[in-house]
Amino acid sequence: MLRRLHPEQPDSFAFTPANQAWAEAQITKYPEGRQASAVIPLLWRAQEQEGWLTRPAIEAVADMLGMAYIRVLEVATFYFMFQLQPVGSVAHVQVCGTLSCMICGAEDLMAVCREKIAPKPHQLSADGKFSWEEVECLGACSNAPMVQMGKDYYEDLTADRFAEILDDLAAGKVPVPGPQNGRYAAEPKSGLTSLSAHDSGRTQYNASAQLAVDIGDTVKRIDGTEVPLLTPWQTGASAKPETPKAKPKAKPAPKPEAKVEDAAPSEGTKPEALTEAREGGADNLKEIKGVGPKLEALLNTLGFFHFDQIANWTAAEVAWVDQNLEGFKGRVSRDNWVEQAKTLAAGGATEFSARVKKGSVYDE
Ligand code: FES
Repeated sequence: MLRRLHPEQPDSFAFTPANQAWAEAQITKYPEGRQASAVIPLLWRAQEQEGWLTRPAIEAVADMLGMAYIRVLEVATFYFMFQLQPVGSVAHVQVCGTLSCMICGAEDLMAVCREKIAPKPHQLSADGKFSWEEVECLGACSNAPMVQMGKDYYEDLTADRFAEILDDLAAGKVPVPGPQNGRYAAEPKSGLTSLSAHDSGRTQYNASAQLAVDIGDTVKRIDGTEVPLLTPWQTGASAKPETPKAKPKAKPAPKPEAKVEDAAPSEGTKPEALTEAREGGADNLKEIKGVGPKLEALLNTLGFFHFDQIANWTAAEVAWVDQNLEGFKGRVSRDNWVEQAKTLAAGGATEFSARVKKGSVYDE
């Protein structure tokens, strides 16, 4: 299937403050120069926030990770889990069309989709509440046929029961996910034949079905209100106290062309900055481990072009820069840029700078 960006796109994208804090925390999980590894979690969170993956969201994620837009677009268009067009505001229905489900009635479920939602996959229903698509096996084959909506599975479906579920969702009701034929999980329909003594004390519904019932929403997307999934050093539990805890922000990371004066007020002292590189051109700041293309552009925007500028930063100046690296806060101290810059400013080399010079780190 050809996967392209939708012809109609919103003007902009910004993570909510909670999602921005979460995204910044994810980026810190990866080693210096490997921030691109966070691309899928960040794209996924952007999709959870908006319902689908917009071009501005793809570009915002690329900016946060110092990646070329085309690299992030390649990821977004490769994986089918990313929705590249608007989806239903209530639910996007994913109907399993693989062997077990197909044998047990998936075609009937898709007929319901065509009748109640839209004639073709990825089209919105007339009221904009639903969309649907056929997907490959979702791993619930013993409860076939089934559909996924949001994070929840609706299993052991019939066409009639599935139609009822869609009607309930459209009416704002909360249908209970899981098996729809009275089964608790994937046991025989006639009941357990072994280990039957082990079902005492179990919850009313099984596993995630119970969780969905507990929060009173079966198709809820991640919205940042969940318990923050932070890295240990951001909860103060590790030996990296110099890494500041990510603070919620309303705006995405600034683009390289942002003005220096636009930087947010911060702690510490602003180091002396240049308006442009000295004669002879800027140093390749990417030779400092932890500075990728995005950070180098940001540093240049802030007026820093040379190793000796960084080598001379005081502790207060490091604190200022750490606070003003939108999307990369705390990197100066975490990666010890000053010590690296001292070596490079003196004409020396580090193991990392040698690899950059050999061209084995960045495609340039
Ligand atoms: S075949 Fe449908 S879940 Fe596996």
